[in-house]
Amino acid sequence: MKHPVRSSLFLAVLSHVIAAQIDYSKYVNPFIGAEGPIPGLAYGGGDIFVGGALPFGVAKVGIDTYETNVSFSTINGGYTPKGLVTAISMMHESGTGGGPKYGIVPQMPLTTVDEPVNVLDNRTYWQKRVGDDKASVGYYSTKLENGVGVEISASRHSGIMQYEFPAGDKHVLIDISHYLPSEHGGSNAQYYVGGAIDIQPGGRIYTGYTSVGGGFSESAPSTVYFCGEFDSAPDQSNTFRGRLTDPIRGYHTFSNGPVPEPIFGSNSEVSGPLNDRVGALFTWSNATISTIKSRVGISFISYEKACYFKNEEITSWKLQDTVDAAVKEWNEDVFNKINVPIDDSQNITNIRLMYSSLYFMHLMPSDRTGENPLWDSDEPSWDDFYTFWDIFRCTISLYHLIQPDYYSSMIRSVIDIWRFEGFMPDGRSGNYNGVVQGGSNADNALADAYVKGLHGINWTDAYQAMVKDAEVIPYNTFSLVDPTNGIKEGRGALYDWIPLGYISADRSTRAVSRSVEYALNDFSLAQVAKGVAPGDVEKYMNRSAQWQNIWAHNHTHKGFTGFLAPRLSTGEFNLTDYNPALCGSCEWKDISYEGTPFEYSFTVPHDMETLIQFMGGEAEFERRLDYIFVANTSEQSLASNGAGITTIMNIGNEPDFATPYEYNYLNKQWKSVRESRILANQFFHDANYGVPGNSDAGALNSWLIWQMLGLYPVVTQPVYLIESPWFSDINMTVNFNKTLRIKANGLDNADSYYVQSVKVNGEPWEKNWLEHEDIMVDGGLIEFELGKEQKIWETGSVPPSPGHRIL
Ligand SMILES: *[C@@H]1O[C@H](CO)[C@@H](O)[C@H](O)[C@H]1NC(C)=O
Ligand SMILES: *[C@@H]1O[C@H](CO)[C@@H](O)[C@H](O)[C@H]1NC(C)=O
Ligand SMILES: *[C@@H]1O[C@H](CO)[C@@H](O)[C@H](O)[C@H]1NC(C)=O
Ligand SMILES: *[C@@H]1O[C@H](CO)[C@@H](O)[C@H](O)[C@H]1NC(C)=O
Ligand SMILES: *[C@@H]1O[C@H](CO)[C@@H](O)[C@H](O)[C@H]1NC(C)=O
Ligand SMILES: *[C@@H]1O[C@H](CO)[C@@H](O)[C@H](O)[C@H]1NC(C)=O
Ligand SMILES: *[C@@H]1O[C@H](CO)[C@@H](O)[C@H](O)[C@H]1NC(C)=O
Ligand SMILES: *[C@@H]1O[C@H](CO)[C@@H](O)[C@H](O)[C@H]1NC(C)=O
Ligand SMILES: *[C@@H]1O[C@H](CO)[C@@H](O)[C@H](O)[C@H]1NC(C)=O
Ligand SMILES: *[C@@H]1O[C@H](CO)[C@@H](O)[C@H](O)[C@H]1NC(C)=O
Ligand SMILES: *[C@@H]1O[C@H](CO)[C@@H](O)[C@H](O)[C@H]1NC(C)=O
Repeated sequence: MKHPVRSSLFLAVLSHVIAAQIDYSKYVNPFIGAEGPIPGLAYGGGDIFVGGALPFGVAKVGIDTYETNVSFSTINGGYTPKGLVTAISMMHESGTGGGPKYGIVPQMPLTTVDEPVNVLDNRTYWQKRVGDDKASVGYYSTKLENGVGVEISASRHSGIMQYEFPAGDKHVLIDISHYLPSEHGGSNAQYYVGGAIDIQPGGRIYTGYTSVGGGFSESAPSTVYFCGEFDSAPDQSNTFRGRLTDPIRGYHTFSNGPVPEPIFGSNSEVSGPLNDRVGALFTWSNATISTIKSRVGISFISYEKACYFKNEEITSWKLQDTVDAAVKEWNEDVFNKINVPIDDSQNITNIRLMYSSLYFMHLMPSDRTGENPLWDSDEPSWDDFYTFWDIFRCTISLYHLIQPDYYSSMIRSVIDIWRFEGFMPDGRSGNYNGVVQGGSNADNALADAYVKGLHGINWTDAYQAMVKDAEVIPYNTFSLVDPTNGIKEGRGALYDWIPLGYISADRSTRAVSRSVEYALNDFSLAQVAKGVAPGDVEKYMNRSAQWQNIWAHNHTHKGFTGFLAPRLSTGEFNLTDYNPALCGSCEWKDISYEGTPFEYSFTVPHDMETLIQFMGGEAEFERRLDYIFVANTSEQSLASNGAGITTIMNIGNEPDFATPYEYNYLNKQWKSVRESRILANQFFHDANYGVPGNSDAGALNSWLIWQMLGLYPVVTQPVYLIESPWFSDINMTVNFNKTLRIKANGLDNADSYYVQSVKVNGEPWEKNWLEHEDIMVDGGLIEFELGKEQKIWETGSVPPSPGHRIL
């Protein structure tokens, strides 16, 4: 059933030319997620980055802040609405939890460096902000309490800063030892281990490097080189140094010492064996200059390359030129991939949610191609995967459709990491694999890519990398968050999974959540093995059913029977006081991770048929699904992961992403539409508190995009569930240059959005799901007839369960 695209090719091309002229960037609200439930605080919010960046850019230039109310502070993205500004720095993450990462290669504009300012003590110079911050795609501005106006834009490996100083002395401080600290301490805090800075003759250009380790990936130190330049020569420039007083395991520091006074040098400092803090101070005394501009390049290879990036990428001192270039790139590479009608008939809020969500799902990972300091390879290089655990569920499937080149490059890089480091990452940042929350979920991304025919992948190697995950127990690096087994990469509990056929609750942590995740990982191997190693298919299909080994068929809770449950290595279930709606603190050492066993009991996308049977058949499955959406059924407090959600269903975190759509497996698609829309409307807003918890590198935002498209991907299968779109017309560029058009008659987002009937490529469609081939290869046309009636319109087969087997 192929759409006759050829005849409409001319029109499609024409529409792109027209569409390319629309400036979608102006509908992006870069603050969505900047705040949590407590006004003014980032705590419980999206942990997003706010500043200048390109799609998947290496440089993400923005402010670093500190919130003094440490118990209610999260500074992972650097930005907080009201925090004290400690610097403007070149690298950030967006949407992450765990230990903050980056916030390195800084500048700080100051109007005085007199006592009590000590350039080595950020508390003596940090700044409140006055007025409202402004941000748009490629642009950020704020005003500091000291009167300095700050404007920022960025290119791919570089940034441009413009400081508008009040009358008087003007200083820019560069503290090479600056990074985003962890407000809560802990073993995944970052640490600085050394750097260098050189001021070139004339004082306008400085170069050097900084080495910082730790952060959520618990990484080894990695070195970033920089090259900065000011548009006017300073009257004075000096380097400085001081002893490192932050205690760091494994490195020399001057522990328990007071914050040192800087020792000013001349124009060059290197940390040396005591890992000294180093920096530089630039001063303009000439009262006639009020604007100081600076452009800075960064590189993981050398400061020469950093200078090259600065010069090549930011060729003009006019900040607006860099902003314009960023806007152009975002429009062409990202926003133009999904066209919705931009006219008065549309709900502007939904347009803003669409383009803002696209923005946030393209900030991470970072395309570091050509910037891999660890090994020589012709393959692309990517970093800042946060994490496959978060993005495998629906983010990567959207990359596949609208960013086939970037996505292929990403996947090739992940395979190259296996070639040179032995394992693919689950999370990775600072050029270092870490940390694994559940299964080895890059496997799921590879399977998803494989079944949909992603171009350019060496599948022989890809499969070998997956086999490594499936068969080889990774070294235990004794992470303090869970020292019981390896969590840097791979699958730390294979010692249970392979011989026992499940993960035992007495020998392993996260036994319940990891058992279901490993099962899906093994299904992923089976999917790729079909083409690459047919002899392995049955083995991994068998293993993909091993979640059944921890299914306690007779365990009853709240009137529902049959749950995933802790099972001991002896083979006995331990159902003593077992409540599947609880998971302790739901962390590394608990029976399930960031979700209760009640929730994880819905996460078997490859064999929904068996799951429905195990839960007591269709009626019981439906009754259980209905229950998780009922207010006040949650028995577990998920703290800042929960966004005040009181249902068992938690849309604030990834494990439940697909659950609201599972009514499709009962041919009651209208209920999927109802529940998922209620969640979207309740928890996603065009507002600072606009996502329910950490955006997780855009994973939450990508969930919303699928919701608005009226589709949901079944990961590891070439299958999309049909839901209900939010726009009357959508053109989506898929498979490089094909168009998928989604039209909806009778849509009113207030009350007329239930599916009455569907046509695909002109033919009446009876199933509530589609295959990749139907619409995503050559493009196609889906026509929805929507209405108010909650109608069972589908009569065809339910979505497939290709991993179906009962152990
Ligand atoms: C920190 O913020 C929380 C939430 O607003 C508030 O309840 C608490 O009193 C604050 N603590 C301090 C020390 O200001
Ligand atoms: C301030 O500097 C000290 C010393 O390097 C560091 O430990 C601390 O984390 C910094 N604080 C902020 C908010 O950057
Ligand atoms: C001060 O600024 C003015 C105007 O930009 C310039 O002509 C003059 O040379 C500057 N003087 C110094 C010492 O930099
Ligand atoms: C989608 O493309 C068609 C032409 O193929 C055009 O008529 C229509 O206006 C486009 N819709 C949107 C929302 O861009
Ligand atoms: C637009 O949609 C939002 C939900 O996304 C809704 O709250 C708002 O009322 C709608 N506005 C109009 C004018 O229909
Ligand atoms: C895949 O990569 C391996 C080396 O890692 C190479 O031997 C093989 O030829 C490649 N296969 C293809 C199809 O490129
Ligand atoms: C798969 O499981 C079936 C049924 O238990 C068993 O007969 C078969 O030997 C298994 N195959 C492999 C390759 O493990
Ligand atoms: C579960 O209950 C069924 C029917 O009540 C019973 O036949 C079966 O033995 C029970 N299984 C276990 C493991 O207790
Ligand atoms: C069984 O579970 C209970 C309740 O969680 C726990 O206290 C007990 O230690 C467990 N028993 C074994 C053998 O792990
Ligand atoms: C849920 O519990 C809260 C707090 O106890 C209560 O205010 C609210 O009315 C309850 N909602 C429902 C639907 O029971
Ligand atoms: C569409 O993209 C594919 C893959 O890049 C390319 O081979 C093909 O030439 C393109 N077709 C058109 C009409 O641009």
